[in-house]
Order: sequence, then C-alpha cells, then structure tokens
Amino acid sequence: MSRKLTPTRKNSRLLSRKSKGPSRARISMPPKPVRGPRGEDEFIDKCTERYYFESAGVSLYDAAIRKAPQQFRAKLTEIRDQERAHAQMLREVIRTLDADPGVMTESAKLSQIESSGVIHVIEHGNFEAVMDALLVLELVDNAKWELLIEIADELGDDEAKESFEDALGDEADHLVYIREQIVQTTMYRLQTRAA
Ligand SMILES: [Fe+2]
Ligand SMILES: [Fe+2]
Repeated sequence: MSRKLTPTRKNSRLLSRKSKGPSRARISMPPKPVRGPRGEDEFIDKCTERYYFESAGVSLYDAAIRKAPQQFRAKLTEIRDQERAHAQMLREVIRTLDADPGVMTESAKLSQIESSGVIHVIEHGNFEAVMDALLVLELVDNAKWELLIEIADELGDDEAKESFEDALGDEADHLVYIREQIVQTTMYRLQTRAA
C-alpha cells in the first residue's frame, strides 16, 4: 500500500526536488546497439587504436630495455616480442574487416597521445620511473583488451575473440611481472633505508 508524503519541514526539500521530475543522475540511457554497420566501424576503430598502442608498446619496451639493469632484460625482451605479436595479429584482424591498418582512426590518434606521455617518462626517468610508466602501459593494455573481447563477443566474431583472449592472457602476465618488480624494488629500498 502506497502512502502519500504530506509536506512537513523535514521533507519539504525532498518534495520540491521530486516535483521537478527525476534527477539527471537516475536517467540511464539505453546502450547503443553494437551490431550493424556502426558496430563494425566501432570495432575497426577500437582494433586500430589497439594496433597503434601495441606498436607503440614495442618502442616503449625497446627504450625500457636500453635502460634496464641486466637482470630485467630477458623478461622485458620477452614482453616486447609479445607486444609485437599482438600488433601483428591486430593488423591481420583489421584487414579481415576490410579496413586499412595504415589509416589512423580517432581513437588511434588519442592512444598515440596517451603513449607519448609514457615514452617521455621512459626516456627521461630513472629505471624506477621506467617501471612505473610500464605499469601504466600494462594497466591500459589489460583494460583495453577486455573491452575488445566484449565488442568481438557482441559482434559474434569468435575467431577475433579467441585471439584477443590469448593476448589478454599475455597482458595479465605482463602486469603481474611489472607490478612484482615495483613491489620488490620499493621494499628493498625501504629496508636498506631503515637499516
Ligand atoms: Fe600490449
Ligand atoms: Fe603488455
């Protein structure tokens, strides 16, 4: 049974707000349909964004390897090679979608600007800063592969989805490795300072 609110001093503000209709925050827009030509365009845009970001990742890891102490180089080189393989796989997916990977889309342009901040840190910072920059890179990597997997799933592109899931598996390893190195280096520094 519903009860009507009678105006009192306590609830007068609530009632006057209610009388203006639902608040903006409560209005949720229906999700845009992903299927159809616009969905394909979105997919190409996001694949191209990832393609340019992964390609930039190869250069970023190259720069990081040049600065890395010997004990980090083998693993960073392995990660660099996986980033390169991801970029190559994306180039093939974009071609399968009848698009040209050489054409920069809007999202790809933005991702280039984003990665330019990371390269700046890698080129000018010490190795600790380099690892922090790689952490930013890998967090974006993981989130963006998850998004691509969702889009591929929505479009029913099972082949692309499977390749993207393999890439996400690699990215999860990258993230764990970079995070572990940062934790270990930070702990070592704290302990040696405390001693
Ligand atoms: Fe990546
Ligand atoms: Fe990665």
